[in-house]
Amino acid sequence: MSLKTQIIPNKVPQHVAIIMDGNGRWAQQQGELRIFGHTNGVESVRSAITASVEIGVEFLTLYAFSTENWNRPKEEIDALMNLLVQSITQELDSMNEQGVKLETIGDIDNLPKSCQLALKDAIDKTKKNDKLTLILALSYSSRWEITNAITKIALQIEENKLSSNEINEDLISSYLSTSSFPDPELLIRTSGENRISNFLMWQLAYTELFFTDILWPDFDKECFYKAIIDFQKRERRFGKTTEQLK
Ligand code: IPE
Ligand code: IPE
Ligand code: MG
Repeated sequence: MSLKTQIIPNKVPQHVAIIMDGNGRWAQQQGELRIFGHTNGVESVRSAITASVEIGVEFLTLYAFSTENWNRPKEEIDALMNLLVQSITQELDSMNEQGVKLETIGDIDNLPKSCQLALKDAIDKTKKNDKLTLILALSYSSRWEITNAITKIALQIEENKLSSNEINEDLISSYLSTSSFPDPELLIRTSGENRISNFLMWQLAYTELFFTDILWPDFDKECFYKAIIDFQKRERRFGKTTEQLK
């Protein structure tokens, strides 16, 4: 029986973020090129989207390409960008059928024109959907995002549009690329790496972390449900004591 039956409906996280890792190792284990792993990872993206829609997750952020990933071999970067365009185009109908609204975070201007166009088109064609917001982090890193935010705040102060005593946590959040989304309650990272890799460092301040050894192309719906069930068993104290929560 599916693990889905064990999920408590009124305790489903509103926002789940995933560091989709391990595609290269998955391919290498089968004697294939790294890109074969990326291609097979698309099925896991589909599963995560469908599972999110089915259980009522409202925001799903997927780390698809980091600022640091620009340091990979050119062939791999090109293949990833092509795969991105191809997947977005292919998945458009399915996103609309499922009520998925596409958004992005990251330095999108830095992506190849073909990616920018495919993203713009898909964002436009899915903008009225309201079941799940799918946020793709592309050419994204947390330090890039925070540096940008600080620059913008400094400019506002220089131009006398903002005063330094107006700076607080809410103001900082409003300058981040995630300003219109709630912070994730759950972060999943696949492939056995126990690190954040420059992802949503501000937003993850109180997020529950779930690390699994499963490589991303093997991460199916049941794996997703397992992470949700694990999350639902945790006590989120936010600095308080257990007694205070009762
Ligand atoms: C994640 O898989 C996909 C991206 C970072 C784009 P990797 O390509 O990092 O796979 P491993 O970690 O080398 O196995
Ligand atoms: C993190 O994975 C980035 C994405 C999943 C897009 P990496 O595989 O690039 O992370 P590190 O460099 O091993 O930490
Ligand atoms: Mg990796």
